[in-house]
Amino acid sequence: MRPLPGRWVYHRVQDAGGFVRFDDVRLPPTTQGLHYGTGAFEGIRAHGGADGGRMHLFRVRDHYLRFLRSCRLLRIEVGLSADELTDLTVDLLRRNGDTGDVYVRPLAYKLGLLPGTPPGVGLGGISEAVTIVASRLGAYTPPGGVRCLISSWRRPSRAAVPVQAKITGGYVNSALAVEDARAAGYDDAILLNDAGQVAEASTANVFAVRGGTLLTPPADADILPGITRDTVLALAADLGMAVAEQPLHPADLLLADEVFLTGTGVGVTPVIEINGRPIGAGRPGPVTSRLVARYRQVVRAEREDTRRWLTPVKPGVPDGSRGEPVERPASKERA
Ligand SMILES: Cc1ncc(COP(=O)(O)O)c(C=O)c1O
Repeated sequence: MRPLPGRWVYHRVQDAGGFVRFDDVRLPPTTQGLHYGTGAFEGIRAHGGADGGRMHLFRVRDHYLRFLRSCRLLRIEVGLSADELTDLTVDLLRRNGDTGDVYVRPLAYKLGLLPGTPPGVGLGGISEAVTIVASRLGAYTPPGGVRCLISSWRRPSRAAVPVQAKITGGYVNSALAVEDARAAGYDDAILLNDAGQVAEASTANVFAVRGGTLLTPPADADILPGITRDTVLALAADLGMAVAEQPLHPADLLLADEVFLTGTGVGVTPVIEINGRPIGAGRPGPVTSRLVARYRQVVRAEREDTRRWLTPVKPGVPDGSRGEPVERPASKERA
């Protein structure tokens, strides 16, 4: 992420912390999470409403539940429930005076060896920190769709790395794949799993459309089963579209009528070309376009039937947040 000078962030080390300015967070170069990738994170979006209406976080509780699950795997004691993390996030956005589109990045990581812990790689006996930052971020994929390269890097098996959790160290795999894709002139990479089946893109799930049916790799295809993926499966059912979660091979993508990606960052993004071959007519297809439009309505609070996924962020700066950092001791984890 880009540096965020002057913005408020939430930062806690062990049991003490609160809202501080971005520039006041100092991390020691010995931070274990930097050395060994022992951190867990989330990506959450808040969207401004249509016509400047109220801003809403999208499925924030689901993101924090996944965050807490990822943390548990790394034996990180967050000390806050999903509801408390949600409240903190709403506070953070209000403190920063945000009203438009924002990307929220919670991160929990191992910091340093506690007295008595032997040096080396491990998860126990290490202090921990939690940081939540939020940056203004609108759509960053071209509306006309993206071009993808099927990567020569494979998604690691979940028997080797827990790819179904958002663990920082695992993302070296995405970074290597994206680097190659960009060097070859593409926007993103699609990775196969060890069995040669389609897994997912660098930070998004993959869907194909064939004869009006949506096809997407199943949860056990070494993917992160995304919250946007789950949203799109629900929206598709609502729109009367047939859906199948089934293994896909690269040829299934090349032969599809349409392909699209889903993720918090990319939303629903058409894929118009893979490995230099146009997908369908080489432009966003009708099924994808319908889902793009429906997803947009949902996240921008233009529909009543999906309000359960939205958390409103009341405009205005919360009390006591104009000056000094506010200490907010952590309570025990309850999620
Ligand atoms: C590897 C990977 N797959 C899929 C996704 C999509 O997940 P979500 O829709 O929950 O953002 C992401 C982004 O979080 C990701 O990093």
